[in-house]
Amino acid sequence: MRIAVTRVIPDAGLDLLRDAAEVVVWPEPLPPDRDQLVQLAEGADGLLTLLTERVDGDLLDRLPTVKVVSNMAVGYDNIDVEACTARGVAVCTTPDVLTETTADLAFALLMAVARRLVESYDVVRAGGWRTWEPMGFLGPDVHGATLGIVGLGRIGQAVARRARGFAMRILYTNRQREPDLEAKLGVEWRDLDGLLAESDFVSLHVPLTPATRGLIGREQLRRMRPGAILINTARGPIVQTDALLEAVEQGWIWGVGLDVTDPEPLPADHPLLRHPRVLVTPHIASASYQTRARMAELAAQNVLAVLRGETPPRCLNPEVLTRDSA
Ligand code: DGY
Repeated sequence: MRIAVTRVIPDAGLDLLRDAAEVVVWPEPLPPDRDQLVQLAEGADGLLTLLTERVDGDLLDRLPTVKVVSNMAVGYDNIDVEACTARGVAVCTTPDVLTETTADLAFALLMAVARRLVESYDVVRAGGWRTWEPMGFLGPDVHGATLGIVGLGRIGQAVARRARGFAMRILYTNRQREPDLEAKLGVEWRDLDGLLAESDFVSLHVPLTPATRGLIGREQLRRMRPGAILINTARGPIVQTDALLEAVEQGWIWGVGLDVTDPEPLPADHPLLRHPRVLVTPHIASASYQTRARMAELAAQNVLAVLRGETPPRCLNPEVLTRDSA
């Protein structure tokens, strides 16, 4: 078996692969471009990819030996699943293992923006801490505020559990209502407009799909409260960046915490970064030692299972596996 891995990932995954297969790893810190990826993966049976690699029909046609694409991520908007299925290629992902860590970061961003942690630390570092200021660095309370969760999947639920610890009132919107979760988590359903109008904090937890691309634009931002904070740890293109810039500059909302952006990465001279109440982290929501090791391990288990003819732990198109064994 030959497996191509598109970046250096934790040993928990690489060791598993190396014990079972010939493994080639893209050694650079930046992702391979298309030609480099094709060269790396020539003759490979399996591809272990990251969210930075676009996997589509063109790539698969250039790599006809590949039988499985295992994405080390829960999101898979970088993969054309239909094109994979049409070519009998299994697509696997790494859900669950990153749920709590991602929710931790969503909450960290929410707290950091509200309590102006980075902005105030910048002042301390620059020697600007002169005295205790009765009017300095005021921000909204987190405890007791209303949090609106857009997308009550695994990560949205994990954020709700954290919010309960802060005595927040929790609203959610979702494709369908979740009566069991409403009872279990003490959350109340609203449609998106209602949630935006009522929430002090809005946290996005939907996957990027044609239906969610641009979901939060000018009209939605205008519905939010002037004191509200928007948090995005899902995917950048869910929020329209120009509208977001206008929203913070015009004071339609109070602050923003983004772990994902559009474009991503956001250029250092992007006007959003000039705003003191916009906090941007470089897509690090799952970046704990433990979680990245689990993601790498699960991604490796997925590839190996498919190549061994076993059922992989997390496959998006299992019909491909059945087809193989039929
Ligand atoms: C994912 O898994 O989709 C994240 O964005 C990276 O951990």
